[in-house]
Amino acid sequence: MILIDGKTTAKKVFDKIKTETENLEKKPAIAVIIVGNDPASKIYVNRKHKKAKEVGINSLVIEFDENISQEELESKINELNNDDSINAILVQLPLPKHLNTYRIIEKILPIKDVDGFHPENAGKINIGIEAYAAPCTPLGVMTLLDEYKINPEGKHAVIIGRSNIVSKPLASMLLSKNATVTICHSKTQNLKEIASTADILVVATGKANIVTSDYVKQGAVVIDVGISRDKDGKIHGDVDFDNVAEKTSYITPVPGGVGAMTIAMLMQNTLRLYKIQRGQK
Ligand code: GUN
Repeated sequence: MILIDGKTTAKKVFDKIKTETENLEKKPAIAVIIVGNDPASKIYVNRKHKKAKEVGINSLVIEFDENISQEELESKINELNNDDSINAILVQLPLPKHLNTYRIIEKILPIKDVDGFHPENAGKINIGIEAYAAPCTPLGVMTLLDEYKINPEGKHAVIIGRSNIVSKPLASMLLSKNATVTICHSKTQNLKEIASTADILVVATGKANIVTSDYVKQGAVVIDVGISRDKDGKIHGDVDFDNVAEKTSYITPVPGGVGAMTIAMLMQNTLRLYKIQRGQK
């Protein structure tokens, strides 16, 4: 079994970005919008802000009260769309229930959509042509597979989870690399039987330790996208690592696997958008 080290891989990406930004007179800039007081979202946004500064990217965090209206939020996005000093816009999800997330994402200019969530970028990824940016978590998974020379071509990739943020774009990316892709979810019958035919098993459900060794084929690659905390504050992935690891050829730990890659991909996307906007890509 080989442990897929997201931290080391992310560090390589950060170092490369830092080297590139050092030579730039005008730094790339990302604006991050956060609405309300969700503690997990606040932690993520602070991490993004801190990391951006470390790698030579300007970061502007815009905080709004829980009760902001749809119109106010959309008008802020318009303002950022028209602001030449901002290259990348991210709206931290989830948003409060009274806001229409789709309409807000749709307002972001596709060329500033650092999450790759805008329908233009999502559509391009689905078609298999290059988007301005691709969603950070699935991009992190693909980067790890590449780093460890795991070629998805001809392999059966099973994804458990059907989110727009992770599973659907990941399915498209794996398909573009010629994998045979199956998406499973909470209503899937015979989940265990399907999962145990996977050469590459990706789990993105947010339910701690649901994948045990009977879900895993001997020698499979197991990628754990999940992260949750139990009541004692202990961090768990969606995969019962101790139970599964010895059966796998490669496995990602939690923490230190996919999660470690997400911010690296966000910074990479920010630099990419900066270059595209300057006609350098
Ligand atoms: N919330 C959880 N993951 C993400 C992400 O990748 N982007 C944004 N904007 N919000 C998230």
